[in-house]
Amino acid sequence: MVSPLQEALQNLPDNAPEPIVKDIFSPILFKALGFQQGEIIPEYSTGDGPVDYAIRKTKEDDVFLFNKTNPWLLVELKGRDINLSPDAASYSKTVNQLKRYLLGQHTNSSEWGLITNSSSIQLFRKHGKVIHPATPCLPIDIDNIDQIAGLIKGKIDFPTRSLTVAIYNNKGGVGKTTTTVNLAAILTLLGKKVLIIDLDPNQQDLTNSLGIPLQDGDVYKALTERLPDLSNAIRPFH
Ligand SMILES: Nc1ncnc2c1ncn2[C@@H]1O[C@H](COP(=O)(O)OP(=O)(O)OP(=O)(O)O)[C@@H](O)[C@H]1O
Ligand SMILES: [Mg+2]
Repeated sequence: MVSPLQEALQNLPDNAPEPIVKDIFSPILFKALGFQQGEIIPEYSTGDGPVDYAIRKTKEDDVFLFNKTNPWLLVELKGRDINLSPDAASYSKTVNQLKRYLLGQHTNSSEWGLITNSSSIQLFRKHGKVIHPATPCLPIDIDNIDQIAGLIKGKIDFPTRSLTVAIYNNKGGVGKTTTTVNLAAILTLLGKKVLIIDLDPNQQDLTNSLGIPLQDGDVYKALTERLPDLSNAIRPFH
């Protein structure tokens, strides 16, 4: 049996321009993501230009289409003539456009952004002013479209509560640990609950830089035991 999304893809010409993708693909996609009429506003004014669609679920009698406030998901939609593979200049341009919209004056409440041209799709999440990919840019075809729509729906319906920050540099001694400690301190001052994890069994710089006494094996146990008692591995720091 052919699903509505598969049918929409089948009906799309290979080089469908934006208006055709909007007509044929986007209504079916939004429905598959769990949104209904009244929850979707086209050409929504972000304060930094109009985004193709702004979306928010109806809560009791607060209908987005009528109140037009507090958008939750912004969608920037392209035609198939716009290449959205990650190495294309048009991809970076589209991502930057979405980021601008997510940071617009009227879109403070927005938590999610989506770009798609019906050949690729990518979900982004916003934490404060930080916007980061919530999925890779995924190529869409008839065989995977329902699975990908399900994946995106799962992410926006049951979002992870915390932001994970990785501070990475291959080179030694460039300030990774220093950045980690200071970023954690600033976030704590801003009222965030922060967990920093020292997984370095040799240097233990992170632990040392906070003046916390070393204890043997707790993180190791937390990683290797089936039901570890994490409270042993976590040290409060004020
Ligand atoms: N912005 C900075 N200005 C001057 N010195 C700095 C700065 N950031 C870090 N340092 C110093 O550079 C040294 C290396 O910093 P740090 O230990 O944070 O690097 P690292 O990348 O974590 O190193 P490793 O690869 O050994 O884990 C430390 O002595 C630190 O005090
Ligand atoms: Mg270090």
